Amino acid sequence: MTFVDFEEVPAGIDTSRAHPARRYDYWLGGKDNFAVDRESANMLAGVFPTIRLSAIENRRFLHRVVRFLTAEAGIRQFLDIGSGLPSAGNVHELAQDIAPDSRVVYVDNDPIVLTHARALLRSTPEGRTAYLQADLHDPARILAMPELLRTIDLERPVALMLLAVLHFFDDDAEVHRLFKFLREALPPGSYIALSHATTDDEPGVDVAEREALNRRAGIPFRLRSAADLGDLCAGLDLIEPGVSALSRWRPNVPEHERARPEDICMHGVVARVP
Ligand SMILES: C[S@@+](CC[C@H](N)C(=O)[O-])C[C@H]1O[C@@H](n2cnc3c(N)ncnc32)[C@H](O)[C@@H]1O
Repeated sequence: MTFVDFEEVPAGIDTSRAHPARRYDYWLGGKDNFAVDRESANMLAGVFPTIRLSAIENRRFLHRVVRFLTAEAGIRQFLDIGSGLPSAGNVHELAQDIAPDSRVVYVDNDPIVLTHARALLRSTPEGRTAYLQADLHDPARILAMPELLRTIDLERPVALMLLAVLHFFDDDAEVHRLFKFLREALPPGSYIALSHATTDDEPGVDVAEREALNRRAGIPFRLRSAADLGDLCAGLDLIEPGVSALSRWRPNVPEHERARPEDICMHGVVARVP
């Protein structure tokens, strides 16, 4: 069964400023982006030329994480917040390939994602998927949405996916607040997967300058360190290898084929709720 939870009709697509979902789509080679997104993307690429590789490695990380969670950790329920536009290998496709009864709730706040949500809703008959237009700033609302509650059972382990989304949250206290709220809502045996932009792997870079560039490119985002992500996950059991460069998290290609951390500048981590 498939449902879309239309709490409010999307207010149309704003092409006057860059949006994260559309800019990311551009880096991944998609067509759902506008001149303003491409301008923003190219501005960042001018300073960090491998940023497209970074987006690709983030998707590869997502693929390995979902396989790990489904095949090794036995997870059958996913909550993917900041899911982005449908792309090659969405969470439900990867999970249901291994376990057809997997259930996935996608959440994003960008109206363009809603217009493409149909692709996220093609579930196996044994499983189920839902798409919710909602904002991560209000996690209580997300967890109370009827379509979420019809799709996943919050009494049973859930994998919360927060991939490449928390760096759009400028306020550290806010990130800690909403992360704490979500992890406390998850039963023991649940997992949380994160990926996040960093400058840890770019020695000598001026973080303030890089963040100012992000603001000029129309999408402010914060760069956080491995230590910051470790703090966020305090009290959770980190899955080996802990917080690491994306390409080094349980890689499935030989060393010489792995992207260099300095070309990605993103950390990933998967943690288990004890
Ligand atoms: C860079 S994309 C990442 C997509 C996907 N998670 C991945 O890693 O491939 C970030 C997504 O987060 C969404 N996003 C940003 N801020 C959000 C918020 N406050 N609430 C919900 N989604 C948000 C954007 O609309 C975008 O689709």
